[in-house]
Amino acid sequence: MQKAALKVTSQAVGTIRSQIFGSFVEHMGRCVYGGIFDPGSPFADAKGFRTDVVELTREMGVSVVRYPGGNFVSGYRWEDGVGPVESRPTRLDLAWRSIEPNSFGLNEFMNWARLAEVEPMMAVNLGTRGVQEAADLIEYCNSDCDTQLSQLRQSHGIDTPHNIRAWCLGNEMDGPWQIGHKNAEDYAKLAAETAKAMRLVDPDITLIVCGSSHEEMPTFGDWETTVLEHSIEHVDLISLHAYYEKYGDDRLSFLASSARMDRFIQRVIERADEVSRRKGLDKRVNLSFDEWNVWYQKRFEGVDQLEFRHAPRLIEDEYTVEDAVVVGSLLMTLMAHADRVDFACQAQLANVIGPIRVEKDCPAWRQTTFFPFALSARAAGHTVLSGSLETRSMDAELFEGLPMTQTVVTQSDDSSSLMIFALNRELEDETQLTIDLTEIGSALEYTESHCLGGGNLELTNNLEHPEQVVPGALREVVVDGSTLTVVLPPTSWSAISLRLVSPS
Ligand code: AHR
Repeated sequence: MQKAALKVTSQAVGTIRSQIFGSFVEHMGRCVYGGIFDPGSPFADAKGFRTDVVELTREMGVSVVRYPGGNFVSGYRWEDGVGPVESRPTRLDLAWRSIEPNSFGLNEFMNWARLAEVEPMMAVNLGTRGVQEAADLIEYCNSDCDTQLSQLRQSHGIDTPHNIRAWCLGNEMDGPWQIGHKNAEDYAKLAAETAKAMRLVDPDITLIVCGSSHEEMPTFGDWETTVLEHSIEHVDLISLHAYYEKYGDDRLSFLASSARMDRFIQRVIERADEVSRRKGLDKRVNLSFDEWNVWYQKRFEGVDQLEFRHAPRLIEDEYTVEDAVVVGSLLMTLMAHADRVDFACQAQLANVIGPIRVEKDCPAWRQTTFFPFALSARAAGHTVLSGSLETRSMDAELFEGLPMTQTVVTQSDDSSSLMIFALNRELEDETQLTIDLTEIGSALEYTESHCLGGGNLELTNNLEHPEQVVPGALREVVVDGSTLTVVLPPTSWSAISLRLVSPS
């Protein structure tokens, strides 16, 4: 058995914003059509919304949902998706080589978001469109002035403005695959002008400029610097996207995904702060990690191979326990950066690399990756506490000096409880983790624990066996005064809750 020791201090790293437990709904594959929206399904309500998906979205604790894309948004005309359904055009979606009937659009999404109790995050098209269309969209959504666009919204049955707060200025504009892809300078100027116009319509919005599509992009770093040099005065946040997968049987590198995400976050922070400093601004640009997940991109044959079809089955990865362990650890990294990460969206919500899976005539089910998300979103405390961790490290193919244990400790708003998240990266060994909480409270009470991993890592939940995987409890948890000792199974993610009987 390996050993690790954590000493927790009363110093706060940051406050967790609920918006880091966000998700993403894109017009892609069966995420919208046949996912959250399926008028022909016996599980749909009168509006065509899958009520079982809505319930699972609430159960997951999803706070915010980004919409309508993704690559999709870079060729999207938002006007196609509003007004009487029978007059909406059917179009080719070039991003995913699909047929888009536009029977689900902005107002349907807003109705769904209200039902699912999530905040919307909207993306504007800066691929094939520009300043005017983005300004029109926000006027349609948020303005209560008596103008043609707000009258149009009212004529569509929406009297009160949608009042959408969070807006993405395009999607992955650094990617050569993006429709309307631009170099950093061209994108930055367009984003800055679009941001200016949108804020003139509604000053009280959060604007997110596109950072890199992933850390390995050849332009990563310089892209962030150039984009912020031109736009920092007009934007609030910069985006990050990252998908992780297991290459071959290299489990250790896969378990290093959260360390790689951590490094990515730090590198973006450095770039953002450097621009701010150089310009002599008293402005801190925080981060929106608005696409992240485990995604087996190597299994996807690519868009070129697709025939144009409506709602094809695209990237419906079936997740294993091992994938869920990694998803849990990615959430830990996001929490650990609570001081700088304001939004984060797991991509995507249903079917398309989603934690929720659905078929027309069957109840929706929870993929393995549902559990770490739900447990983190629902149980994480308000404040992330700092600490020093002693653990052995190893070199992985994709990350040198990888700490074999990762931990995050959060405390509730009223200081009465703690949540401890722990990842054991040991492939074969258990790890005995000792946590010294003297600075936090003199008497602790163990409430419960949830654990994924340690056993058969290949198990999945699927149509035939929708409840094969559920989190278990940790076998060994000992509380002695203000010290907690737990035994973490090999390759596992755990969440442990404690009550503070007498806080310090
Ligand atoms: O989530 C799937 C796709 O991944 C999104 O459309 C795109 O933004 C990213 O590359």
